[in-house]
Amino acid sequence: MLNTTVAAVRADGALGSQPLAPRSGFEHDLLAALGQRPRTISPKYFYDAAGSALFDAICDLPEYYPTRTELGILRRHVPEMAECIGPHAEIVEFGAGSLQKVRLLLDALDQPVAYVPIDISGEHLFSAARTLQRDYPRLHTTPLVADYTRAFQLPPLRRQGGRRVGFFPGSTLGNFSPAQALDFLRMAADKLQGGGLLLGVDLIKSPAVLHAAYNDAAGVTAAFNLNLLARANRELGARFDPNQFAHSAFYNAPLHRIEMHLMSLSRQSVTLAGQTFEFAAGETLHTENSYKFTVDSLRALARQAGFTPGPVWTDPDHLFSLHWLQSPSH
Ligand code: AVJ
Repeated sequence: MLNTTVAAVRADGALGSQPLAPRSGFEHDLLAALGQRPRTISPKYFYDAAGSALFDAICDLPEYYPTRTELGILRRHVPEMAECIGPHAEIVEFGAGSLQKVRLLLDALDQPVAYVPIDISGEHLFSAARTLQRDYPRLHTTPLVADYTRAFQLPPLRRQGGRRVGFFPGSTLGNFSPAQALDFLRMAADKLQGGGLLLGVDLIKSPAVLHAAYNDAAGVTAAFNLNLLARANRELGARFDPNQFAHSAFYNAPLHRIEMHLMSLSRQSVTLAGQTFEFAAGETLHTENSYKFTVDSLRALARQAGFTPGPVWTDPDHLFSLHWLQSPSH
């Protein structure tokens, strides 16, 4: 029998295609960001339809090595990864984006049963899930529009005694602070009990290579960063002048992270929801951290969260790493 239904399940259990993060979530968080110093907002708000498309364009840039390198590691080592995962797996992908990487995994797995891609950007997720469903008609695909940094419920296991396996590629874990990363991994270890997590993280390397990856010559990363302001104007009726802000990205070596900011190019005021906020020239809105790891620092963090670290795969230049983390059953 073919299982061709794509069920839209929101994290609160309701059916529908409304994005989980309500418009007011963005407004609430942006107001809070503008009212505090330093001004910081979660990078999850980059990913409206335009932002998701810009991120896909970033992945094709010559300077942005992570996507290409991770795909190379996957292609080369996916049989070993499939061996770790085992037969009849039920795959949960965190922050699924355009669902390209998981195809490599699905093609190598022994009779995967179900696939639950989770993403905050509903529109993007549903169209990608429909395409995937066409190509993998025997797989139960259930896209879940949710913010996986908050409480959410997975659909029930399809098979009795089935194994849930998480897939979290792309070094999205690097967007979290160390404390948030630990919280996420603890949550994942709990939800994936008896299975495991295949996790991709970017590695510490030369600052010049890191700098180039976030300051591409074509200006796509700048457009991705600045789209946050355009989105606020579109969705919230904010009055940012995107020409009066500049993309700023640099490697903060002591903290092992790339920081992205939007820097005010002049003294200016911005209005949002009837409130006015002053920016001094040079003042920034901090929009993203992208933490970099060593193989050992990631394994130590995973252990702290309750995983048992297994095999690690990297590329010959040690730019990027994929980790199999087993989640023991209690
Ligand atoms: C999706 C969080 C992994 O940090 O490299 C790319 C996002 N930001 N260029 C990253 C991003 C600027 C990306 N992650």
